[in-house]
Amino acid sequence: MSSLDDLKTRAHELRERLEGQLASASDQTSLQALRDRFLGRKAGEVTALFKDLGKLAADDRKDAGEALNTLKAFCEGAIGEAEARLELGLRDSRLASERIDVSLPGRARTAGGKHPLTLVREEVEDVFIGLGFDIFDGPEVDDDFHCFEALNMPADHPARDMQDTFYLADEIVLRTHTSPVQVRTLQSYTPPVRVLAPGNVYRRDFFDATHAPAFAQLEGLAIDEGITFADLKATLAHFARAFYGQRTPTRLVPSYFPFTEPSGQMEVFFDVGDGRGARWIEIMGCGLVHPAVLEAAGLDSEKYSGWAFGMGPARIAMSRFSLTDIRLLYDSDVRFLEQFA
Ligand code: DAH
Repeated sequence: MSSLDDLKTRAHELRERLEGQLASASDQTSLQALRDRFLGRKAGEVTALFKDLGKLAADDRKDAGEALNTLKAFCEGAIGEAEARLELGLRDSRLASERIDVSLPGRARTAGGKHPLTLVREEVEDVFIGLGFDIFDGPEVDDDFHCFEALNMPADHPARDMQDTFYLADEIVLRTHTSPVQVRTLQSYTPPVRVLAPGNVYRRDFFDATHAPAFAQLEGLAIDEGITFADLKATLAHFARAFYGQRTPTRLVPSYFPFTEPSGQMEVFFDVGDGRGARWIEIMGCGLVHPAVLEAAGLDSEKYSGWAFGMGPARIAMSRFSLTDIRLLYDSDVRFLEQFA
């Protein structure tokens, strides 16, 4: 027969053991294990004490029952509290890990910018679109007829040497200039035509500070009845001043191209910023379209006349942005390009 004292001692001992084990229970699983071990309906240690009540003397049972109920309440309370504390701790650490520091500096986004050659092309286009020109395109792989023959450069013409050519096949070339677009335009449209044709061209040149084997060109063409050299001069001077500044002096200097007669080059008096001060720099070749070019495209050269020009946006960009090496424009070095963004 167990005694009341004995039972109370065991109850006390259980209570202390639970407290000790609670202190080291760090997760839900170990708390549940404690709950099972102490309060489990079948094998719980507290439950076992209740079962022993019957072995006590009848007088002692009331006392013992109270003591066990207190123990049971204590155990439930202590485990419940531990669970609540664990729950709170989890929430706190979750909150801590999800914390957003609104005072951190933001991550800067790098936005792309336009390439300097694109900037130049768009600016030139703007001026000529303002004068009623359309933008035209032509193939970069072209035939001998459009690239040379129809531009008054028959086979063996010495002017072909000015443009060292990449041949892809017999009579098929990478165009050496955008002038073939003149021929294609006149073959497709009856004058009046006013077009601007930007695009890439290819020449067997070394890649050095002033030459590139592939580079941009911009062709202009205006054909109508009664167009004269005065129209060419006024239009190109207007362009030069719109682009370089209204006070920029311009001049036309005689030159030679097989597809224009007379031919010239337009120059502007401009400080390119290389420390040598303002001087005359060439910005384009131009001239009145040669009658042979009009005829080759199927037009009556007695009825129609007009002018054309060809400029190199790379050269223009170099003068505009004070560049001394054309390769900067084709190397795709972001340290250079981001200065234009
Ligand atoms: N096609 C010439 C070249 O690449 C440039 C040029 C000169 C074009 C005079 C023209 C022009 O339309 O009239 O060197």
